[in-house]
Amino acid sequence: MHIDVEQACILLRQGQAVALPTETVYGLAALFQNEQAIEQVFSIKGRPRNNPLIVHLSSFDELQAYIDYPLEKIKPLTDAFWPGPLTLVLPVKSTVIPSIVTAGLSTAAFRVPRHPLTLEILKHVGPLVMPSANLSGKPSATQAAHVEQDFGRDFPVVDGGPCHQGVESTILMPTPTGWTILRQGAISLESLAFVLEDTPELDNRTEDKQPLCPGRLFRHYAPHAQLFLEKTRLPDAEAIVGFSDRAYPEGYAFFPLGNSSSPEEAAQNLYGCLRSLDNAGIKAAWIDLDVPKIGLWATIAERITRAADRS
Ligand code: TXA
Ligand code: MG
Repeated sequence: MHIDVEQACILLRQGQAVALPTETVYGLAALFQNEQAIEQVFSIKGRPRNNPLIVHLSSFDELQAYIDYPLEKIKPLTDAFWPGPLTLVLPVKSTVIPSIVTAGLSTAAFRVPRHPLTLEILKHVGPLVMPSANLSGKPSATQAAHVEQDFGRDFPVVDGGPCHQGVESTILMPTPTGWTILRQGAISLESLAFVLEDTPELDNRTEDKQPLCPGRLFRHYAPHAQLFLEKTRLPDAEAIVGFSDRAYPEGYAFFPLGNSSSPEEAAQNLYGCLRSLDNAGIKAAWIDLDVPKIGLWATIAERITRAADRS
């Protein structure tokens, strides 16, 4: 059910969860200090309670009230990327953030999203938690229609059009010696390195029982369809997910990610494409991952690899 900004503000203030557009993916929003509304968010998504949520703010100026960390150390990053798809995990002042948000950690994740409708809502109602608006484990929602597929036609959603970036924010955390990327995302490692004048580390210890980013423990982004990455599995597939400017063997349903020269296009189309496989009843697909593993392509490759992981 499509709602406008004013209705979204009313529902949020009443303690209801609503879906909102951001530049990355749609978010499932609740007031960050309303534990009951946040409980709703966890149960609507089927999300494990030990996976903390990102606090979304309307501007950098709001951050100071919550964090126990020198602002000047993060200013270059927020000047360059906020509003935008960068999430910062920072130590917080005790008790200012409910533990249901942080999953009991001494840090919390913050970002200022770049979507005019959601920024307007944030200015009216204050900080919101917003995990991606999809059933836990499934591909994220990059259109209002995807939210309705997961949560039903009656679920309130502000339709802000297709998401401009199409993949989630990059999550970055300071370390004693520099910065670590906890989740690759819409901002590339190379863009961060340029602003930081130092290359951030990539936290890819997926086997770790206690990763820095709890979300890494859970299955993610996966459609029902089985996804093959090795070319040798092509005969076992019914469909090909690939690029419009490349030639593939005939006899397969084709799901385009866009042009192979545009990682931006592939990012925008990725989750919609994975959802289309399921809508078309495809059981198994081969995905063309022959792309350079740098810049935004590295994020796309990571998402596809995780979506294909059935372990
Ligand atoms: O682009 C995005 O970030 C979207 C839009 C809606 O803003 N939101 C999003 O939220 O992707 P979610 O909940 O799907 O992913 C948040 C990730 C999870 O993997 C969680 O474990 C991690 O952020 N996270 C949250 N708080 C953290 C913390 N204090 N320390 C480490 N990781 C944290
Ligand atoms: Mg998510």
